[in-house]
Amino acid sequence: MSELAPSILSADFSRLGEEIRSVEKAGARMLHLDVMDGHFVPNLTLGPPVVRSIRKATALKLDAHLMIEDPDSFIGEFAAAGADMISVHVEACRHLNRTVTAIKALGRLAGVVLNPATPLDTLAEILPEADYILLMSVNPGWGGQMFIPRVKDKIAALRQRIDRLGLATRIEVDGGVTRDNIGELAEAGADMLVAGSSVFGGGDPQAAAADLIARLGTAR
Ligand code: DX5
Ligand code: ZN
Repeated sequence: MSELAPSILSADFSRLGEEIRSVEKAGARMLHLDVMDGHFVPNLTLGPPVVRSIRKATALKLDAHLMIEDPDSFIGEFAAAGADMISVHVEACRHLNRTVTAIKALGRLAGVVLNPATPLDTLAEILPEADYILLMSVNPGWGGQMFIPRVKDKIAALRQRIDRLGLATRIEVDGGVTRDNIGELAEAGADMLVAGSSVFGGGDPQAAAADLIARLGTAR
């Protein structure tokens, strides 16, 4: 069954522990952490010290999405801080095979991220090496943007490619996931659905996350 990956980007950072507890109570098993450097994307968020504190506060799988230049310089720090999954953008990696190999050598799951305009063909040589592929369904930088509709076909095409090759690579989708589209995105082939504003943007993150998880339960 597909999983919900609540993104803390839209959470209240002054009450992060409570916010995390509410998605735990809703049944989430992972937490998506958006790391932005003000260079690769035009916004700044959090770094290894925050990941380290979150690690102490929860047993959820921590999914670090690195939207940064030169990820090679930081993957060791994120692994040491307690990230279980680390994903890097193809657009930010000059030596992607080296970066993915380094993440796996640290004992972490390695993810490869594609921006909306980056074609699936860029994955040809890395697909068998990656543990998961993260398809961006918004241009990264902020929460609360609209899902880009054509990404739904991209999910289905990647699912076909992975199945045809007999790989176990999982598909994560990030950006504009709501209660209205989460079911159909899981049906299209997404295994992990990131949701930020649709979990933390309203008044009741526990109820919102539980609703999204229930919708996944009746999909694929
Ligand atoms: C966007 C981030 C997303 C963000 C999604 O740059 O990578 O993870 O939190 O937020 P929503 O779910 O609000 O689109
Ligand atoms: Zn993200």
